[in-house]
Amino acid sequence: MIQLDLNHAFLKEDVKAYQDQVRAIDEALQNGTCKGNDFIGWLNWANNYDKEEFSRIKEVAAKVRENTEVFVVCGIGGSYLGARAAIEMMNGLYGDNKPEIIYMGNTFSSTYISQVMNHIKDKEVTVNVISKSGTTTETALAFRILKQFMEEKYGEDAKNRIIATTDKARGTLKALADKEGYETFVIPDDIGGRFSVITPVGLLPIAVAGIDIDALMKGLHEGMGEYGDADLEKNPAYRYAVARRILQNQGYDVELLVNYEPQMQMVAEWWKQLFGESEGKDGKGILPDSVCFSTDLHSLGQFVQEGKKVLFETNLYVETPMIDLTFPNDEANEDGMNYLAGKSVDWANKMAAKGTLQAHEETGGVPNILLTMPGMTSYDFGNMCMFFFKAIAMTTLMNDSNPFNQPGVEVYKKNMFKLLGKE
Ligand code: PA5
Repeated sequence: MIQLDLNHAFLKEDVKAYQDQVRAIDEALQNGTCKGNDFIGWLNWANNYDKEEFSRIKEVAAKVRENTEVFVVCGIGGSYLGARAAIEMMNGLYGDNKPEIIYMGNTFSSTYISQVMNHIKDKEVTVNVISKSGTTTETALAFRILKQFMEEKYGEDAKNRIIATTDKARGTLKALADKEGYETFVIPDDIGGRFSVITPVGLLPIAVAGIDIDALMKGLHEGMGEYGDADLEKNPAYRYAVARRILQNQGYDVELLVNYEPQMQMVAEWWKQLFGESEGKDGKGILPDSVCFSTDLHSLGQFVQEGKKVLFETNLYVETPMIDLTFPNDEANEDGMNYLAGKSVDWANKMAAKGTLQAHEETGGVPNILLTMPGMTSYDFGNMCMFFFKAIAMTTLMNDSNPFNQPGVEVYKKNMFKLLGKE
């Protein structure tokens, strides 16, 4: 369970003053009368997910792990970020990752696409193309290149190495997958892209990466209870949601998600999409940004400490690291570092976090929200998903906006299609 500490947040209003509003919104969310109510399938997904499909995900993943050196996830936005966030958080950045998981369909960069194709050309490859609409241009462009490559490399067998995750009935990708005979998995109608990491969109790549998806679903399921109460005192996700609204009332328009683990950086990217796309509409919302400390204390740290007071920090602390390390002794001590000899490196990381909180809070006057997760396991990931899903749904509905649509994303597409000559 994620622990929340608001003692460093400088809130000028009492969180409890929002109890009635929170209760009313929670009721609307639970009984499906809130804004965007056709996209709340994630709420009870941990109970309602298709168990047969879940078993098939595990079977397909086991087969892929046997015959594949590189697994290419081809998708963008909600059809990409969650899987990458989960895999990097749980396996680390330089783990013994077999198969290697790489990402395409998330950019038009010709250099990136060419280098990925060059990287995979002599390896055993499986492709997972993921798109709910089936028409997202970045993904479709990359998939055509991958499909041709797979057909040249594997001939008839290509169809056994391409897996499509898409809508159950509609769209170009579904039609193509049926025609070619690809294995397919379904993106549920009532779960939007940025909430879809808990569906086959995330679960297949995560299982291919060797991660226990049963534990992920268990964490999600427990999260339904832990973050399910309308009572603010019993629900840290809703308290966090209210604290964000109060801080915005106090003039803070930027939220910096702070982590101290480089393997959490894609979690921050996933969170930015979840929060930014859900809340940033109707001329409202808090701009979500992120930093990885202590690395970024040597870049953005200066701004946080002494720059314009536009932001608050939300620290996502991890209690137990994936691996700890003891700092070695050195007889000569020429670098003067023996004061750390025998100490845990994770302890040093936590002391850096403590010192930073003090500096930003006491001297910098920056409000800090503290979130602590127990570890970076599959269970923790599933649990964290429910925490952030509930928090962003509540905080956006408090703004009287629809948390589950993204009308603004379409504007660039129209212009781009015109420029690309699409009919
Ligand atoms: O949150 C969202 O809905 C978006 O980020 C989509 O996931 C993204 O645009 C990809 O869409 P699709 O899965 O239709 O290719």
